[in-house]
Amino acid sequence: MQHKRCVVTGANSGIGFETAKALAHKGAEVIMVCRSEDKGLAAQAKILENCPHDRVHLLIADMSSQQQIRELGSAIHDQYSEIDVLVNNAGTWISDLTYTEDGVETVLAVNHLAYFLLTHLLWPLLNTGEGGRIVNVASDSHKQVKQFNFADPYLTQSYHGLRSYAQSKLANVMFTYELDRRKPIDGVVTNAVQPGLVYTDIGLKRTTWLHAFAWKVRRSLWRGVTPAEGAATSIYLASQPEAAQKSGLYWDNCRPKPSSAYSYQEEDNARLWEWSLEKCGIEAYFAPGF
Ligand SMILES: NC(=O)c1ccc[n+]([C@@H]2O[C@H](COP(=O)([O-])OP(=O)(O)OC[C@H]3O[C@@H](n4cnc5c(N)ncnc54)[C@H](OP(=O)(O)O)[C@@H]3O)[C@@H](O)[C@H]2O)c1
Repeated sequence: MQHKRCVVTGANSGIGFETAKALAHKGAEVIMVCRSEDKGLAAQAKILENCPHDRVHLLIADMSSQQQIRELGSAIHDQYSEIDVLVNNAGTWISDLTYTEDGVETVLAVNHLAYFLLTHLLWPLLNTGEGGRIVNVASDSHKQVKQFNFADPYLTQSYHGLRSYAQSKLANVMFTYELDRRKPIDGVVTNAVQPGLVYTDIGLKRTTWLHAFAWKVRRSLWRGVTPAEGAATSIYLASQPEAAQKSGLYWDNCRPKPSSAYSYQEEDNARLWEWSLEKCGIEAYFAPGF
């Protein structure tokens, strides 16, 4: 990975931190994207502790804000001529229905629309090298919802944090397949990842005490794997030579596996794509734009 440049979102904790650390320790230049400068600086310092080089950078963006994602894209374009890997990893689970400044339900905004918009913004940079790689961190929890709720995408009729989370992870898989179908060149590969049940704090940050308690019990009783183990498939897809030829697949334990039957429905995947274009105000997905 010595001449590779990787962008990892949500790189200050959990799976994203371990992904950024492993890629940096393999020799890659890493651009960490974090929401909090303090947490980002602490994580960057930790990664640099035993790193064979100092090309680990930090950019700050709240991925719930489309304005901040556009500023992030602009900063990456200003500072770098190309990138090899984009790991869309930042994710959240929120117990209560909340909206972003763009008027989008926050979990869907951070977990899906941020992946969709950042990929659009960085596409021109991914396309310039030998072939870029996009890794979308999804989850088997996408199987908990039967379909994407186009009639009420923010689930306002009966909001539940877990359902909203599961739907957003379904959107990750649908986006991956549709991106693979639509991409105008074969060089850039795109895949979705199921990291497993991972012992992180995702369920403790913006959840009610009951959900936080349930998450603590679940990750302990079901023996969640460590964040380093959870990051293994993201790292594999970002770095292994044999993975450079694989695209449009759903991965678990460094192997492709089937996602839910619904996630293969091309009509709804195309519909989600159109909905996402509209929500992000994108006219031509594969053309540069801020
Ligand atoms: N843990 C699991 O069992 C599991 C299973 C399947 C899939 N996943 C997926 O794995 C990914 C990483 O989750 P994790 O378990 O490692 O949890 P985590 O430790 O909480 O990491 C989530 C990362 O996303 C960042 N983030 C959240 N909201 C953000 C926002 N609005 N703007 C920018 N960054 C934001 C967090 O920043 P802060 O620290 O500032 O909040 C953190 O860096 C997520 O996509 C999650 O859905 C996790």
